[in-house]
Amino acid sequence: MATQGYSPSRHVPGRTLSVYFIAAVAALGGLLFGYDTGVISGALLFLRQSFALSPAQQEIATSAVLVGAIIGALVAGRVNDAIGRKKTLLLLAVIFTVGALFTAVAPDFGFFLIWRIVVGLGIGAAASVVPVYISEVAPCQVRGMLVTFNQLAVTIGIAISYWVDLAFARAGMGWPPMFATAAIPGIALFLGMLICPETPRWFASKERWDEARRTLERIQGAQPERELAEIRASLYEEKQQSGWQELFQSGVRIALIVGVGLAVFQQFVGINTVIYYAPTIFQGAGFASASAAIMATSVVGVVNVLATIVAIVLVDRIGRRPLLLAGSLVMSVALIALGLVFAFVPGNTGILTLIILMVYILAFALSFGPVFWLMSAEIFPTRVRASGSAISSFSNWVANFLVSITFLSLTGTIGAPVTFWIYALMGVLAFFFCWKLVPETRGRTLEQIEQYWEHGRQWEEAA
Ligand code: BGC
Repeated sequence: MATQGYSPSRHVPGRTLSVYFIAAVAALGGLLFGYDTGVISGALLFLRQSFALSPAQQEIATSAVLVGAIIGALVAGRVNDAIGRKKTLLLLAVIFTVGALFTAVAPDFGFFLIWRIVVGLGIGAAASVVPVYISEVAPCQVRGMLVTFNQLAVTIGIAISYWVDLAFARAGMGWPPMFATAAIPGIALFLGMLICPETPRWFASKERWDEARRTLERIQGAQPERELAEIRASLYEEKQQSGWQELFQSGVRIALIVGVGLAVFQQFVGINTVIYYAPTIFQGAGFASASAAIMATSVVGVVNVLATIVAIVLVDRIGRRPLLLAGSLVMSVALIALGLVFAFVPGNTGILTLIILMVYILAFALSFGPVFWLMSAEIFPTRVRASGSAISSFSNWVANFLVSITFLSLTGTIGAPVTFWIYALMGVLAFFFCWKLVPETRGRTLEQIEQYWEHGRQWEEAA
């Protein structure tokens, strides 16, 4: 059994630093998820010139990455369990890096699409592998915070991609270096993961208890007996997993509806028409030059990051429901206003559009952005948690794909105002969905949440 390489003195200089360091390295996977999805926004303005793309081809250029992500989300769990979290993340780092470089040298549109799909595989996989890795190395006292930081890393990645797009647009260097830049965090993730450990939980799942113990000692210091006992208990519970079928039985079925509903509404309110197409929207609103449009987009990216930081604090203070309810209403109002501006305000509406999109992104980042990912990890009973959150995440990528592949065609056929009003309607439906079906999970243990479903959605009876 290969146990060498896990002595505390060999790799990690200080124990207290290590778990934060490990989480930060893994969160580079989240940052790459954000960067590689956001980068298309500014790059699109140049790609459409280089490859003479029609609106339909621009949609394909934007959505190719999502095709990869759907596949990545489907296979990630199996690879992660088979070869381990560390090797999976090393593999993803290689995919991100090689994908970035090949995308950047694409001589034609077909080649570009293939490499965007490859990068998408990495994104879809990273979206589920990184939270699993972090939650399995973090001590329980800081687990929630460290896992939520991954969502923050996603928004930081998006914001960085906007600023990088802006820099290369201003320098007149076009789209290739925008994609190539992702190789830098890709290499950092690879080098960082080389010195990070495999998780104790994965070792334990393979009956490699010596290595599990050694890794626990290395990252958490103290005697790991209690932790090992907990891992043993939860692995036992996982073995009792009854698979997908139980998700459709009454009680749990509603949890599945909530998970998939939040996933779909998170996308159907049109978030990624803004994240991926903001410069295109701004150009339509009168910011003529590519760099002015990308500049406005980068402001939106910063608001997204700042509001996510506020959300991390609020989610455990005022709870998930108030954020979801207020967020869906504010997003709907912003989308109606955006449609009205495009329909009735003549001429240059750039600044007005920017203000409205800032309100919209603020509402999203305080509600559906972080709350969907958080709830998809906490609402399912342990026996079906893995499959429940996998179905939710898969639905999220499919819904994302549907919106992204149709946005430009919709604005071209029914017009921008009606398109935004459709997303506004989705926001209203999301409000009623959350109001009727989504429980408040703030301050509840995972066991209480499990009993809530079992007792016909009653908290009173939950212990
Ligand atoms: C969503 C992504 C979106 C991002 C924006 C995430 O929660 O899943 O689709 O691009 O938020 O910050």
